Amino acid sequence: MKRTLRNLIGSLSVILAVFILFAFVVPQDQKVSGAWAVPAKYKSMKNNQKGDAATGKMLYAKHCKSCHGGTGLGDGPKAGSLKTKINSLKDSKFQAQSDGEIYFKSFVGRDEMPNFEKKIVDEDERWAIVNFTRTLK
Ligand code: HEC
Repeated sequence: MKRTLRNLIGSLSVILAVFILFAFVVPQDQKVSGAWAVPAKYKSMKNNQKGDAATGKMLYAKHCKSCHGGTGLGDGPKAGSLKTKINSLKDSKFQAQSDGEIYFKSFVGRDEMPNFEKKIVDEDERWAIVNFTRTLK
């Protein structure tokens, strides 16, 4: 009787330990990002049409791919460790926005989407990246 009780307590402790371990090991759900407040002056911003998508692809690989993934699915190597879920850039909802909105999100950013205004200063390079995102659909 005594032995059975000890075994029972033993098994319960093991089960408890496994539960506690899982609470830490299993990643918590990522936050689904809400709507962006894009200022009107960015929304209506005109693409200068001087950014070429091939240059954009190269810059994207350097600055964006680590989170957004090579094809824009939001599956880059850093994506899993972020608290915010990255939406796919191939999505029709993403593609439906104006170039200016994509520009604002890409270079001003918010929270875990870094600000690139100091890293990518050339206007043509910025538009090249926006134009590259248009090729992802
Ligand atoms: C450190 C990881 C990281 C890097 C690097 C990064 N992003 Fe992001 N990006 C995010 C996250 C996280 C979000 C979602 C943020 C949110 O909704 O609050 C996001 C969102 C965006 C969005 C908005 C997507 C939508 O659904 O409308 C665009 C556009 C974007 N990023 C472009 C870029 C571009 C262009 C680069 C490179 C110049 C870049 N990002 C680099 C993490 C990153």
